[in-house]
Amino acid sequence: VTGVFGWPVSHSLSPVFQNAAFEALGLDFVYVPFAVRPEDLPSAVSGIRALGIAGVNLTIPHKESALALLDEVDEEARLAGAVNTINNSDGTLRGTTTDGRGFIRSLREDGRFEPSGRTALVLGAGGAARSICAALVKEGVGALYIWNRTTRRGQLLVGHLRSALGCQRVYEADSDRLNDAAFWKEIDLLVNATSAGMRQGDASPAPASRLHRGIFVYDIVYNRFTALLAAARRAGCRFLDGSSMLVYQGAVSFEIWTGRAAPVEAMKRALAAATAESWQDG
Ligand SMILES: NC(=O)c1ccc[n+]([C@@H]2O[C@H](COP(=O)([O-])OP(=O)(O)OC[C@H]3O[C@@H](n4cnc5c(N)ncnc54)[C@H](OP(=O)(O)O)[C@@H]3O)[C@@H](O)[C@H]2O)c1
Repeated sequence: VTGVFGWPVSHSLSPVFQNAAFEALGLDFVYVPFAVRPEDLPSAVSGIRALGIAGVNLTIPHKESALALLDEVDEEARLAGAVNTINNSDGTLRGTTTDGRGFIRSLREDGRFEPSGRTALVLGAGGAARSICAALVKEGVGALYIWNRTTRRGQLLVGHLRSALGCQRVYEADSDRLNDAAFWKEIDLLVNATSAGMRQGDASPAPASRLHRGIFVYDIVYNRFTALLAAARRAGCRFLDGSSMLVYQGAVSFEIWTGRAAPVEAMKRALAAATAESWQDG
């Protein structure tokens, strides 16, 4: 048994593509959504051991609070300050986050974009942004600029990446920089890792007029075609939406639990079928 702990959890798309993946490989596994209240997380985590559950994903609001409940937490999760995957290895609970690895695999395999040596701008400094920024640094990004709505949080992330990963090629992008046309000429990769775009009518978090054909635009929001993606399309940019990362971060979890290569195409097909009706424009 595998699954996802969340509150609420009924909206999670992970059961759709994880169960499709188990089926595609004929594995005797199942993936179950578990509605776990915040105050019940410690007992639910103990239940993984007690019930012999192979592993779980964690979604809102458990990603940060789980850190203190596990036997081991790897470097990626510590850097991100969040855990999205628990693996039960003979009663030892190991936490990691698969967002960074999932993002990079998606960028390479679906986007055909190689980040090493390139200049990236990441919008956001929350859990997903932290994982993505750490992964980009590890992949040898040439320069990484980080912008966040709450300036202090963005500055903390820049400092954290510089000290934890010993990388000096990480810079803060303040709002003046974001409005500077010359700055945008340097950018090869733009990542929206904020929640802006999740709600209908949300404005683009990046100035649409600055986009140009040389920028690969990645919006990790996965429930709609966002204003940023519409602007990217108008500007002639290559782009990806968050459904690609969603599948690949799940594929990494799948591989941790099963030790098998994830059947990514089957997972994509299952997700596309499930979201065909709910995918929203705008
Ligand atoms: N595709 C995938 O596989 C995948 C995986 C994980 C997450 N996501 C998506 O990524 C997004 C962020 O998730 P998270 O877990 O990192 O959330 P989080 O930890 O709560 O962080 C949210 C981030 O968004 C910023 N933000 C929120 N509203 C904003 C607005 N109106 N304008 C500008 N910035 C805004 C926040 O800035 P402040 O610091 O100023 O509050 C913060 O940087 C969500 O849409 C989530 O669904 C996608």
